[in-house]
Amino acid sequence: MTDEPRLVRVVPGGPVMVEGPVRIEMPDGKIVESDRFMVAICACRRSKTYPLCDTSHRRRQRGDNATDQGSVQGVAQ
Ligand code: FES
Repeated sequence: MTDEPRLVRVVPGGPVMVEGPVRIEMPDGKIVESDRFMVAICACRRSKTYPLCDTSHRRRQRGDNATDQGSVQGVAQ
């Protein structure tokens, strides 16, 4: 075990990156483990593999813009 502090990096609009391996305890007591070198913890709650990020946050960002533009275009036409 190292004395170095564990690196946690917050990605704007995305996950929280945590040096692995990790063991995550959910509110219901369920344990989720990942032995990856770097683990992406979902911060948007849209992941189908929550609490792990499945990149659904990317679709949300693009979708929000596309939806907004689509709505405006849809109303204007
Ligand atoms: S942060 Fe990536 S799916 Fe939620």
